[in-house]
Amino acid sequence: MSKYVLDHHLKGEGERLALMSELLDPMHRRHIDSLDIVRPGARTLEVGCGNGSISAWLAERVSPGGKAVAVDLDLSLIEVRAPNLDLRQGNIVAGPVERGTFDLVTARAVLHHVPDAESAITNLVASLRPGGGLLLIEPDFLPVSVAEPQEVRAFWDGWLAWSCERGVDYHIGRALAPRLAALGLTQIRGSAETAIYNGGSRWADYWMQTITELRDELIGSGKLNDAMVDTFLRYCADSNWWTQTIAFTVVHGRAPRA
Ligand SMILES: C[S@@+](CC[C@H](N)C(=O)[O-])C[C@H]1O[C@@H](n2cnc3c(N)ncnc32)[C@H](O)[C@@H]1O
Repeated sequence: MSKYVLDHHLKGEGERLALMSELLDPMHRRHIDSLDIVRPGARTLEVGCGNGSISAWLAERVSPGGKAVAVDLDLSLIEVRAPNLDLRQGNIVAGPVERGTFDLVTARAVLHHVPDAESAITNLVASLRPGGGLLLIEPDFLPVSVAEPQEVRAFWDGWLAWSCERGVDYHIGRALAPRLAALGLTQIRGSAETAIYNGGSRWADYWMQTITELRDELIGSGKLNDAMVDTFLRYCADSNWWTQTIAFTVVHGRAPRA
């Protein structure tokens, strides 16, 4: 298995994950709420929990009587603790966390990094109890592929070429629904949303941090050069430049009732 690209020990990764929580948790919580599954006594599983912000929120929501399990390859950046929050180190490709026990299983911005996403999704589905709900949120690079101006698009083209070589699938969003259908889930629904942002905004900060962390690797790949990266970073600092980020594809489905 290729190594996870954004290693938790990279300088700035804790701050970057905190920014992801700030930008994406409201959307993630809204979609979890819309499923109307998470209530006191429920059992939830989040895989690839990052800093644990969503799992901590789930632990509160299932209290009293419920349990939130949070799994990640690396738990070193978890900043949250709760009596009913069970933190486990693990790799979702290796097998289901537990078979047939969770009311809600969720993963956000994880599967595009997993070389064997097929097995990961199969293992997530296998963790659902009959009637339980799976909620996946993954990127789709479609909006970025039409970014303006041309030099920004050239940056993203280089990023995509690097990510393909690195085994990161930034188009996985569109493949989620058919995969869940093939695994027998029912009531499959989905939507996708992007954010419109300008230079100097929190989304621009997010990309600046991500690119700064990965800069040596991006340039070392030969798919981007210093000038392309610097040009993109200049746009990210320019409040007159408006653009859209990747589409976050949200797909959910239910395990059949026994
Ligand atoms: C981009 S971060 C997203 C973190 C969090 N879900 C969020 O959206 O803020 C991806 C996370 O998935 C974890 N991860 C990657 N591959 C994994 C695997 N095979 N099994 C479990 N966790 C994995 C990484 O360690 C990292 O914490």
